[in-house]
Amino acid sequence: MQLSNFPTRKFASPDTWERFVERFRGGQQPLPQTWADLFGPLHNGTVDDLVIVGQVGQSLDGRIATATGHSKYINCPAGIEHLHRLRALVDIVVVGVGTALADNPQLTVRQVAGPHPARAVIDPRGRLGANARLFADDGVRRLLITAEGSRVTPPPGVEIIALPATDGNIAPSAIAASLKRAGMRRILIEGGADTVSRFIAARCLDRLHVTVAPIMLGVGGPGIELPPLERADQAHRMPVRVHRIEDDVLFDCDLSGQRVMLGVAKKST
Ligand SMILES: NC(=O)c1ccc[n+]([C@@H]2O[C@H](COP(=O)([O-])OP(=O)(O)OC[C@H]3O[C@@H](n4cnc5c(N)ncnc54)[C@H](OP(=O)(O)O)[C@@H]3O)[C@@H](O)[C@H]2O)c1
Repeated sequence: MQLSNFPTRKFASPDTWERFVERFRGGQQPLPQTWADLFGPLHNGTVDDLVIVGQVGQSLDGRIATATGHSKYINCPAGIEHLHRLRALVDIVVVGVGTALADNPQLTVRQVAGPHPARAVIDPRGRLGANARLFADDGVRRLLITAEGSRVTPPPGVEIIALPATDGNIAPSAIAASLKRAGMRRILIEGGADTVSRFIAARCLDRLHVTVAPIMLGVGGPGIELPPLERADQAHRMPVRVHRIEDDVLFDCDLSGQRVMLGVAKKST
C-alpha cells in the first residue's frame, strides 16, 4: 500500500493545479506529477471509455451526516478542496435527491481553479422543487434523471432523462449509459451514501474516494451500505492508494476489477 502526503493549497502552487487541469482536460501527457498520483487514474478508464468515480466523506465511525442530516465540515478544509478538484476534472457531477433536499448544494467549483461541470440529480419521484440551487441557470448543463411516468416540473433549460425503474430503483448502468449519450465521459457520483452504494452494488464505479475524518458522529446518516455477506473473506479486497489530507485520510479505491462494461470496450494490446 502506498501512503503519500497530499498537496493542499497551502503547499502547492495554484499554477501547478491550473496547469494540471488544463493538461488533464485537454488530453495532454505527461500530467504534472504533483497531482498525477491522485488524479491521473481518472484520466482514462481501464474498462471502457467512461470513468465513473464515487466520493464519500465520512467520520471514523462510518457516518456521512449527523442524525439531523447535517454533513458540512465532516472533512477538513483541504478535504473540501479535494471535492472541488474532483468536480473541476469531471464532465458531470451527480447527486441523489436526498442530498439535494438536505443540503441544497450548488455543485460548482469555488475552492480551486477549474471549470464548473454539468450537474445532475437522480430524482425518481420528482420530489425536488424547481428553485433548487443545482437547477440555477449559470451557463452549465443541468439534468434531471427521473423514473419513466413520474411528473416532474424543473425550470426551463433543465434536460429531463426518464428511465425505467424497478421497485423504485433506476439501474445505475442505465443512468451511466444515458449520461454517456448526453456526451459525458467522466462522471462524479458525489453522494449521498445511498446513491454511491447503488453504483457500487451495480458494479458501476471505476474508483471510489473515501475521505475519513478523525471525528465520531454517533448515530447518524449511514455510510456505504451494500447487500449482506455471510463471511468477511467474501468481501472484494480492492487495490488502494492512501493519501493524507491534513488530518483526514483519503482512500483512493480501485474498483475497476469488478466494473461492468458500460461504454466502448478498451482494445486489448
Ligand atoms: N459526507 C458526504 O460525503 C456527503 C455527500 C453528499 C451528501 N451527504 C449527506 O447525505 C445525506 C443524504 O444522503 P442519502 O444517502 O440519504 O441520500 P442520497 O443518496 O443523496 O439520495 C438518495 C435518493 O436519491 C434517489 N436515488 C438515488 N439513486 C437512485 C437510483 N439508482 N434509482 C432510483 N432512485 C435513486 C432516491 O430517491 P427517492 O427517495 O425519491 O426514491 C434515493 O432515496 C444528507 O444528509 C447529506 O447532507 C454527505
